[in-house]
Amino acid sequence: MNQRIIGSILLTLFAVVAVLIDTESRATVSAMTARTTITDGPEVVEDNMHEFMEYVFQPTYKRLKVSMAAKPEAKAGWKAIKSDALILAESCNLLFARTPEEGASDWNKYAVSSRVQGAALYQAARKQDFDAATSSYKSMLESCNACHRQFENGRHILSP
Ligand code: HEC
Repeated sequence: MNQRIIGSILLTLFAVVAVLIDTESRATVSAMTARTTITDGPEVVEDNMHEFMEYVFQPTYKRLKVSMAAKPEAKAGWKAIKSDALILAESCNLLFARTPEEGASDWNKYAVSSRVQGAALYQAARKQDFDAATSSYKSMLESCNACHRQFENGRHILSP
């Protein structure tokens, strides 16, 4: 065999190995995609409502209360408001996975209004508009409290 033939045999072998490796890695990717389809999640991690509010909503509300006490002087203050407003607004979506059997439509109504006002607060903070932010913040807390009044017998009434 001359060198040219050996060379082309080697090249062909390389090509075959490359195709095999590629097919295998694609198979791995599609297997991973299959494992992470929507049927595997999202899932409720903490199904105890008390713990959920205590660790997701309460610290966020406490931070926000401090940030909203006065108009932020610097960008960092607005960032803090934006962050907590977004966490609260998005967390309201997690309340739909926790709707109780009794009073479900009221529960969902309060979750929606808290989310809408939380989103408005987030947008106002993006524009650094403190008046609009203050009004959305107060409306949001009224919606939070509306749920607490009905489902918590008026415990946990939050103040701005
Ligand atoms: C759809 C109903 C609902 C909405 C909306 C809601 N909460 Fe709650 N929240 C609850 C319930 C129920 C509890 C009481 C949980 C328990 O102690 O069993 C609670 C408790 C709390 C507590 C007390 C936690 C503790 O450990 O004592 C805080 C703080 C709180 N919520 C903050 C908020 C904030 C802030 C919002 C609005 C952005 C909000 N919640 C919106 C249902 C709601």
